[in-house]
Amino acid sequence: MEKSPLILMLGATGLVASQILEDWHHPSNILTPGIADLDILNQEALAVYLRKNPTPVIINFVGFTNLPEAEKDKGNKKGLCWQLNVGASARLAQICQEEDIFLIHISTDNVFYGLKSDPGPYSENHPLMDDHTQVNWYGYTKAQGELAIRNSSIKSAIVRISHPFGNPQIDRDFAQKVITYINAGYTLFDDQHFTPTYLPDLSLALKKIADEQISGIYHVACQPVSTPFEFAEYIAKQKKLAQVKVGKIDEWTEKNPNSYPRVKFGGLETDFTQAILQVKFHSWPEALDEFLPKIK
Ligand SMILES: NC(=O)c1ccc[n+]([C@@H]2O[C@H](COP(=O)([O-])OP(=O)(O)OC[C@H]3O[C@@H](n4cnc5c(N)ncnc54)[C@H](OP(=O)(O)O)[C@@H]3O)[C@@H](O)[C@H]2O)c1
Repeated sequence: MEKSPLILMLGATGLVASQILEDWHHPSNILTPGIADLDILNQEALAVYLRKNPTPVIINFVGFTNLPEAEKDKGNKKGLCWQLNVGASARLAQICQEEDIFLIHISTDNVFYGLKSDPGPYSENHPLMDDHTQVNWYGYTKAQGELAIRNSSIKSAIVRISHPFGNPQIDRDFAQKVITYINAGYTLFDDQHFTPTYLPDLSLALKKIADEQISGIYHVACQPVSTPFEFAEYIAKQKKLAQVKVGKIDEWTEKNPNSYPRVKFGGLETDFTQAILQVKFHSWPEALDEFLPKIK
């Protein structure tokens, strides 16, 4: 069997990457420096690290992922959200160009408008949004981070995900969040379209992309398009939880005018990704059937 290349994984302690490492059984060819060893906001530190640890592949899971906090920084290109999601992506692209490294960058469905005028589900080559006044700042900075990579001439893959679940260790996992919401009696939107990502599917796709250095833009998500309410009802039935309460995204937004704008008509198409990578993703009920027995 061909040996996998050495891979530098950035952001390995996060919700998404920690489950990928688990699914890959923590192999010895993955470098996982913490922020104390390698702060990606420090260009010199990155160059020094790569000189000591030359690698043909980097997977970047680092992101400023707190949407309400990101919104407080709207328009501020000196803020941490911009610096992590755009500045660091641009510098990574530059260093990958200099060192001839294949870069895999994790992105989100928030790079699209999610509005009725430009609704999902989105194909892999759908145009990014470019008006930050209509969307959340997190999504806008992630779109600009993608562009910094796509406009460079490096070998790269952008992999978009949405509402990741499948990590039993971290309670920000979307399925676990939904259980908390049901138990707390919160409402879940039945008019928000989405396609959540099952992390074992992402593990499979990333392994293929990294091992074979397959460039391009890919989507990893479960079909069919659903809503948080439908997803929650399935979980409630399987876990014998309380009746799920219905919410409407527009009513919620009206009552919470200072909250960040949410993707309403979202969702990621995956046909192209599954065909090119020759992988088959779970439907979300299949994924939940597999994952729910692993959590309380
Ligand atoms: N979570 C979601 O709902 C979601 C949805 C769609 C797409 N995504 C994308 O998926 C990727 C991973 O998300 P996630 O939820 O796993 O993120 P996360 O849990 O917030 O983890 C972020 C990781 O980045 C590290 N980090 C932060 N600042 C750093 C710095 N200056 N230098 C080096 N490392 C730094 C963190 O290290 P510490 O632990 O030491 O702080 C952590 O390991 C992101 O690109 C995100 O945009 C996430």
